[in-house]
Amino acid sequence: MEDRFGHRISYLRVSITDRCNERCTYCMPQELQEWLPRHDILTFEETLRLIRIATDLGVTKIRLTGGEPLTRRDVIQLFRQLPSLTRLRDIGLSTNATLLTREVEPGLTMAQAVRRCGFRSVNISLDTLDRAEYAKITGRDLLPAALAGIDAAIAAGFPQVKINCVLMRGRNASGLTKLVDFAAERNLLLRFIELMPVSTTDVLTEENFLPVAEARRTIEAKFGSLIPQPEFKTNGPAIYYQLPGRSQRIGFIGAMTNLHFCESCNKLRLTCDGKLRPCLGSYLEFDIMKPLRANASDDELRQFFLDVVERKPEQHDFRTTYKPDRKMVAIGG
Ligand code: 5AD
Ligand code: SF4
Repeated sequence: MEDRFGHRISYLRVSITDRCNERCTYCMPQELQEWLPRHDILTFEETLRLIRIATDLGVTKIRLTGGEPLTRRDVIQLFRQLPSLTRLRDIGLSTNATLLTREVEPGLTMAQAVRRCGFRSVNISLDTLDRAEYAKITGRDLLPAALAGIDAAIAAGFPQVKINCVLMRGRNASGLTKLVDFAAERNLLLRFIELMPVSTTDVLTEENFLPVAEARRTIEAKFGSLIPQPEFKTNGPAIYYQLPGRSQRIGFIGAMTNLHFCESCNKLRLTCDGKLRPCLGSYLEFDIMKPLRANASDDELRQFFLDVVERKPEQHDFRTTYKPDRKMVAIGG
């Protein structure tokens, strides 16, 4: 699938729930919101059908996300069916890691069970190693659980475990170099992400926003000049550097300040309530649940995907007109 601007779509991010056991300030709107009722959420069968349709059209990589995907009941039953989609080359999971140690069956952790379903990568949200700060950012005192989950992911033998850290000046700015060492000790790929006005604009204040260039300077002040790695890519918009004197690489996702951010976009998103979103930072979304539940044929659903791709914007609107109207948790991080 290719859009009007030459973006080749090969990657589908699939949100399977709007629920989460944490309450990150940048992800959830401050006002209390009801969770979506179960009937408005795609069933496992519907989700699998849409993923299969996407693979018919050239999608080779998916990432399961949420909310917190591991809060969905019996989620492993969904994951276990993914290997039957033979065109998928890469399956990933985005998680806050707090539930990875949970036993799915006696003697089998969630992390091990997910790995056995053929998942190649796990992206873990971890903004700070300071327990009090973690509780402030996520609204839950779950740092020990998250760290245990990271250990469980490492033990389960995923080829790639990444750590995602959202940059917030007044919150985690002083702990960035600690995260670099934490990642180095465990051989994890750490990425720093600029705060985006996804769910609320309130968080995106002058005092909260920390540009990736500044984070880079902070890290260079401790470790020395970072060495650009333009050849190194992970299927996303991160720009990678190597630390001097180490084999460690770290990445920066400059969603707001990098003006070329959207040029190589290869993504489409499926929300947990059955909307296709051609871009995270645009109002555009298209209700594919409706035709799906009105017995549309595979051909009709394939055409729906193609029509959505045709409307994919050139770039996101975060810098200009975008005003959040939905929870990130429902769209998929
Ligand atoms: N800005 C930047 N990244 C965000 N995420 C969620 N909300 C935002 C936001 N407003 C990312 C976090 C989290 C993942 C699920 O999505 O990195 O780890
Ligand atoms: Fe939950 Fe992740 Fe959103 Fe935090 S960022 S509230 S952990 S889905």
